[in-house]
Amino acid sequence: MTKEQLLSLIGDSGQEHILAFWNELNDAEKATLAEQIQSIDFSSVNSWVDGYVLNKPKQEIPADLTPADYFSIVPETEDVAALYENAVKVGEDLIADGKVALCTVAGGQGTRLGFDGPKGTYPTSIIKNKTLFQLFAEQVIGLQNKYETELKWYIMTSCINDTATREFFEANNYFGLKAENVFFFVQGLMPVFDQNGKILLASKGEIAMSPDGHGGTLLAMKKSGALQQMIDNGIEHLSYFQVDNPIASVISPLFVGLHHLEGAEVSARSLTKTGPFEKLGNFCMTEGKLAIIEYSDMPEELATLTDDSGKLAYRAGSPAIHVFRRSFIERVTDGEFSLPFHRADKKVAFVDASGTEVTPEENNAVKLETFIFDSLPLAKNPIILEAVREEEFAPVKNKTGVDSAESCREMMQEKAAKMLADAGVEVPRKEDGLLDCVLEISPASYLTADALKGVDAPVRGEENYYA
Ligand code: UD1
Repeated sequence: MTKEQLLSLIGDSGQEHILAFWNELNDAEKATLAEQIQSIDFSSVNSWVDGYVLNKPKQEIPADLTPADYFSIVPETEDVAALYENAVKVGEDLIADGKVALCTVAGGQGTRLGFDGPKGTYPTSIIKNKTLFQLFAEQVIGLQNKYETELKWYIMTSCINDTATREFFEANNYFGLKAENVFFFVQGLMPVFDQNGKILLASKGEIAMSPDGHGGTLLAMKKSGALQQMIDNGIEHLSYFQVDNPIASVISPLFVGLHHLEGAEVSARSLTKTGPFEKLGNFCMTEGKLAIIEYSDMPEELATLTDDSGKLAYRAGSPAIHVFRRSFIERVTDGEFSLPFHRADKKVAFVDASGTEVTPEENNAVKLETFIFDSLPLAKNPIILEAVREEEFAPVKNKTGVDSAESCREMMQEKAAKMLADAGVEVPRKEDGLLDCVLEISPASYLTADALKGVDAPVRGEENYYA
């Protein structure tokens, strides 16, 4: 493309400066920049800049906001107990009949973890150092064995980690899964703006771009052909979870069965928050619709509000585990579909007007992302099913402390200990109740608790791995 053609694409968006160094670029660099420019929707740039960059959008908290109701994991009535029992059967049948697929969002940058590589390739398990991807893959194998079926796994990457992710699966033989059952699709990118609404250049020939948030999942599934593949394979539901949570059930029969029986288009699991400021999205209702208000947007007075029983009113937090009905994805992506942007102020290195590389010390840039849970209000009959934290949520987000690899390993061991104890195996503990051994169970065995019956008890003070 010529400079003139590119300028006409940029139009009246006020972003011509991205071509300032065009004459200094070689042909390959010109081609890369031209490709980036063609990928940006310049007709929307002015509205993004006005709506989100120059004017910080105020998160209006609706006046009618109330906490959302959810199904308790321990059934409160006999009717609900019977419903759950039926839901498990229905969920198991749906899995066995190949009507449920999985989706992992793995396009993020893992900045907080400080790990250089796709987050899914982070070595996580305590003895075998299994990566997040391997831990999920083994759960899939466990499900396939148990239900004598094959499952499709959709993995969303971003251009930052797509090649590395695919190569990692290749190099590891897809961890025993069939390559044809693992489908990678790439999420979209958004240009990064400076605080005056000008697109930043990462170098003279490259626009600074960043992933457009997991809100892009549904559209990216459509564009990539993943949705069509679901249709062709008769897949009715998509079980969705984040790459950072290795103990999430990749598919829960109870959850998917309940979602199916209740006619929900989208469903969510919830957790009781550890405190008002735990970094979890909050389940709320407004205008009769279910919504999640992100932790960073939740006003303190609402986060700390208590109900009559003295509990946090907004105690239901989101572990980001959902089921989407395929027909919902088809419905919302048919025609115009957009989710609101959320703004994040970040430090982003750039090249200034004189061509000098600048590494900022303060936030200088605005990234725009959409969030998948903003599709919840569009869903008919959404339900929330409570999850047991110890069984479903041990995220790896930070280097140390809360939600770190260390806390995740502890929780994975406690989950393993509970499974062993449930199978009647004695687990050595210290006087203070902490484990007195190192434990790891292959997720392939998570679902066949019977497999653990009669295994040797863990040896005190030693590493004990159960395949
Ligand atoms: C996220 C949720 C929060 C939830 C919590 C549970 C958001 C905005 N918030 O918080 O409501 O309670 O998890 O752990 O998601 N990702 C992509 N592409 C992107 C951005 C993110 O695939 O463009 C993926 C990441 O790889 C990761 C997940 O989305 O798996 C979460 O992203 P992150 O930005 O780390 O969200 P949290 O702040 O942890």
